[in-house]
Amino acid sequence: MSSLVAIIEFTLNRVFLGSPGTGKTTVAKLYGQILVDLGYLSNGEDTIGCEAIINKLEDYRLTVKHLRELEIDPRQHVPFNFLFRGPPGTGKTSTARKMGQVYYDLGLLSSAEVIESSATDLVGQYIGHTGPKTQELLEKSLGKVLLIDEAYRLAEGQFAKEAMDEIVDCITKPNFFQKLIIILAGYDQDINRLININPGLTSRFPEELEFASITPDDCIKLLTKLLQKQKSDFGLKINGFDLDALESPRPEFTKKLRSRFTRLTQTANWANARDIQTISKSIFGVAIKSMRDKKIAICEDLVISSRSAARYASANHNIQPACSL
Ligand SMILES: Nc1ncnc2c1ncn2[C@@H]1O[C@H](COP(=O)(O)OP(=O)(O)OP(=O)(O)O)[C@@H](O)[C@H]1O
Ligand SMILES: [Mg+2]
Repeated sequence: MSSLVAIIEFTLNRVFLGSPGTGKTTVAKLYGQILVDLGYLSNGEDTIGCEAIINKLEDYRLTVKHLRELEIDPRQHVPFNFLFRGPPGTGKTSTARKMGQVYYDLGLLSSAEVIESSATDLVGQYIGHTGPKTQELLEKSLGKVLLIDEAYRLAEGQFAKEAMDEIVDCITKPNFFQKLIIILAGYDQDINRLININPGLTSRFPEELEFASITPDDCIKLLTKLLQKQKSDFGLKINGFDLDALESPRPEFTKKLRSRFTRLTQTANWANARDIQTISKSIFGVAIKSMRDKKIAICEDLVISSRSAARYASANHNIQPACSL
């Protein structure tokens, strides 16, 4: 594990200082496990800017560990219900999918399974249908994580309100209290709306994980990482993969790219990491078509070419790009 900790990317690096026997190794191992659970180490996912989330989960892990040492039940001291809020493509769903493993490893769930659901799985079609339907889903999720994605749909209509009321009511009952993890995920304004129409929600879901928009500089980092992944996936199959434009960028090019991303991140419907994945695929698609002698080159012009940006814009938003990368 210590070697795993050593290879974590620089944004996640930590220095563990202290006298002998003060738990540096244990803490480092715990930190490594959180990163493994979240997929940052095990499957090489190229995640950028999620430190705050990782730190929070790391805090829970330490809390649980220390309380266990004191033979105190940790359940009272870590949250079981979460609101995941943030703009599109910032990792709400993908992080929620990993929470089962995190809580399972903490010994707080009997399974690492995450049950993904939406309003349709909770909301009934006739009077008296919603309560039992919601209860059934909660029962199915006992010992697991119940992810209710696109939570805005629970703010629409009377039956949806009944479903929320049922959840709010059930999770304090002994059958369900601290026996499953419930995550409500959505955009900021949708979560706010949900809170406004369900006054009991805030006290039942005091834990909010905020997923932040990716900054222009982090957009550049993520784009570089995604293309670097392509480069390493191609490995020996090709005679060369020139990614110098992004790996050793000229300062003027970084400046240009930063300003393009600044404008792009301000366009309506910008979906953060998801859109950067699309841009990366577009750039790579053009590069592979232009391959010569099994050599791939991603030059500055290609990175900021209107071709890749136009493809991105029309594929994703059915609009002309407000700015081209
Ligand atoms: N900070 C990040 N760094 C790198 N990749 C990320 C990051 N956040 C999300 N991704 C990737 O972007 C894609 C979309 O993420 P995800 O579906 O979890 O976003 P979301 O917040 O649920 O979006 P939406 O609000 O539209 O449902 C996934 O492939 C995910 O791995
Ligand atoms: Mg999502």
